Amino acid sequence: MLFPPTLPSQLRQTRHLVVFTGAGVSQESGIPTFRDALTGLWAQFDAEQLATPEAFAADPELVWGWYEWRRGLVLRKEPNAAHRAIAELAQKVPRLTLITQNVDGLHERAGSRDPLSLHGSLHRPYCSTCGRRHRLPDGLPDLVEGGARLPPPECSACGGLVRPGVVWFGEALPGAAWEQAEAAVCECDLLFSVGTSSLVYPAAQLPHQAAQSGAQVVQINPASTSLDSVCAFNVRGSAAQVLPELVACAWPAV
Ligand code: APR
Repeated sequence: MLFPPTLPSQLRQTRHLVVFTGAGVSQESGIPTFRDALTGLWAQFDAEQLATPEAFAADPELVWGWYEWRRGLVLRKEPNAAHRAIAELAQKVPRLTLITQNVDGLHERAGSRDPLSLHGSLHRPYCSTCGRRHRLPDGLPDLVEGGARLPPPECSACGGLVRPGVVWFGEALPGAAWEQAEAAVCECDLLFSVGTSSLVYPAAQLPHQAAQSGAQVVQINPASTSLDSVCAFNVRGSAAQVLPELVACAWPAV
């Protein structure tokens, strides 16, 4: 067992659990994290260079191509045991708030309802000029080996360029989701930080706020992060291994 023996009973007694997730939770679905090196056409960049308003303004085809490639990838992947365990946990504890930095939609596909998606979604692009939502064509986008530049679609209302529905570096987080996330971390009694490097603010401050408000913070990550010192427990393991085992220990099948 990777976690302390007291953790399952603590989980069983939790009234409000916050699960805060990052790219590591989707790693075992076959989706690279942001700290993994990019490959193919994008090998010469790092993710942070492509994920900015300036990059889109300078080279929209490169940036749209990258996000469409990622959308094509995630639509071909399936939620893993970690996503499913989080959806199951919502049925077990009196209250669960799922806060994610992921844009892949795998939590929803695993059955989690209304996650607070702090960094937006690959599946909800909108016009960069007038803000109108853009409906993507049905079906899977091509997944060109190594990636390809693609011209962004034009907005049907104003002709502006459609942009990915994600939050880029330097942009504000969606206000309502952020407010709900802050309220949840201030009133929860337990927070799981799962598969995030805890490097990107303001999202990364949420577990710190939870600890300051008196919640216990538990980190599930095979690597150490700057959050380690704040955590009551650091569980060094993969999300898809640890979370199902924790749920099974807390609520053994009769
Ligand atoms: N299970 C749990 N954690 C894992 C696993 C796994 N199987 N595999 C990797 N990890 C951990 C890594 O050790 C790392 O700490 O997941 C973390 C992934 O970190 P990042 O790639 O930095 O992802 P994240 O924290 O979600 O990034 C935050 O940065 O680029 C931006 O907007 C983007 O939302 C993203 C934000």
